[in-house]
Amino acid sequence: MGKYEIAWLPGDGIGQDVMEAARIVLDRVGLDADYIPGDIGWEWWCKEGEALPPRTVELMKNTDCALFGAITSKGKDKADKELAPELQGKGYSYRSPIVRMRQLLDLYICLRPCKAYPGNPLNYRDGIDLVVFRENTEGMYIGVEWPQVPEAMLAIKGAEKLPRDAAVSIRAITPGGSERIVRAAYEYARANKRKKVTVIHKANVLRQTCGVFMDAARKVAAEYPDVAFEDANIDAMGMWLLKNPLNYGVIVTTNLFSDIISDLCAQMVGGLGFGCSGNIGSNYAVFEPTHGSAPKYAGQHKVNPIATILAGKMMLDWLGEADKAARLQGAVAAVIAEGKVRTYDMGGTNTTLDVANAIAAKL
Ligand code: NAI
Ligand code: MG
Repeated sequence: MGKYEIAWLPGDGIGQDVMEAARIVLDRVGLDADYIPGDIGWEWWCKEGEALPPRTVELMKNTDCALFGAITSKGKDKADKELAPELQGKGYSYRSPIVRMRQLLDLYICLRPCKAYPGNPLNYRDGIDLVVFRENTEGMYIGVEWPQVPEAMLAIKGAEKLPRDAAVSIRAITPGGSERIVRAAYEYARANKRKKVTVIHKANVLRQTCGVFMDAARKVAAEYPDVAFEDANIDAMGMWLLKNPLNYGVIVTTNLFSDIISDLCAQMVGGLGFGCSGNIGSNYAVFEPTHGSAPKYAGQHKVNPIATILAGKMMLDWLGEADKAARLQGAVAAVIAEGKVRTYDMGGTNTTLDVANAIAAKL
C-alpha cells in the first residue's frame, strides 16, 4: 500500500482526458500513493439518482484527499428527463455534487492561485502571481431564497420596506466563518513570504454582513504584524486588478465576491486551461481544475491539462510534499517557457497527452 490514499474522481467529459494527463505526471514525479477511483457526475445521476453516490462520499472519508476532474450538470427539465425511467417520479431531485462535497466535508477554503508563467501567450501581464482565498460555505450562496417576500418577513421591523413582489436571497456571514478564512489567508501569506493580505468588501453599503467580515479580518490581521493589511471595495478592486495586478499577492473575501474576482484573476493568467483550485477543510481537501466538462471536446484529448496538473501540484503541497510540488511546478514552467508543446487554447496543435508527456519528461 502506498503512503497516501487518494480518491481519484475524473467525472464527466474532458474530466477524463485531463485526469489521464495528470496521472502521467504524478506517476513520474514519484508520489508514493494509491489512487482509488470513485464515481461522480452526470452518469450516476442518470443511473442512480445521485451525482455523488454514498459510496463516493465514503471513499472520500477514507482517503487523504481527492483529485477531481469535472462534471456535467444540466437544468431541471433535462435532469428529470434523463433520469432512468425506473427512478422517475420517486422523489429524486438533482443536487450539485460539488456543492454537496463542500458541505459534507466542510471544505471552507477555496484556494485559487493565479500565476502568469513566463512564455504563456495568454498572460495579461508578466509577473502576475497572486492567490485568492474564497470563503466556500456561507455568504450569498447558502441557498436560503424565496421567489417572493414571505408574508412573515414583511412583519419584521426594517423589512416592511421590501417591495411585495421582490425575490429575496439571504446573505449570511458569521464571525467564525469569516475569521477562519481570513486566518487561512494570513497563514498562507506568512508561510509563503507574501508581504500583504488584501481583504475585499463593500462595508459602506452591506454594513451588517461586510461589517462582521471586516471586524473578523481586522482582529485576525492584528495577530500577524509581519504581514501588512489592506482593504478595498469590491468594485474598485475590479479596476485596480486590471490596472495594477502586480500590486496584489494574497486576496481574501466572501463567497460571491471571490467567485467573481477569482475568475477575473484566472483569466489574467491564461483562463480555463490554467485555472486550478483547492477546496480545503481542516481534515480533507479536493483539488480540481476550475473548468467544466466541455462536452464538445470529450475524449478527443484536445484540451489543456495544465490546470489539472497544477491542481495536482497544489495537492502535493497540501500533503506536505513540497519538494515534489516544486519540481512539478518547475517542469510545467519549463514546458510553457519553451513554447514547443501547446494545446489549441495556447495557439498550438498538440494533444492533452503530448503536454503531459512533455511535462513528465522534464521531471
Ligand atoms: P467548460 O469549462 O466545460 O467549457 C467552456 C469552454 O472552455 C470549452 O468549450 C472550451 O472551449 C474551453 N475549455 C474548458 N476547459 C478547457 C481546457 N482545459 N483547455 C482548453 N479549453 C478549455 O464550461 P461550459 O461549457 O459552460 O460547461 C460544460 C459543462 O461543465 C456543463 O454541464 C457545466 O455545468 C459543467 N461545469 C462543471 C464545472 C465543474 O465540474 N467544476 C465547472 C463549470 C462548468
Ligand atoms: Mg465560478
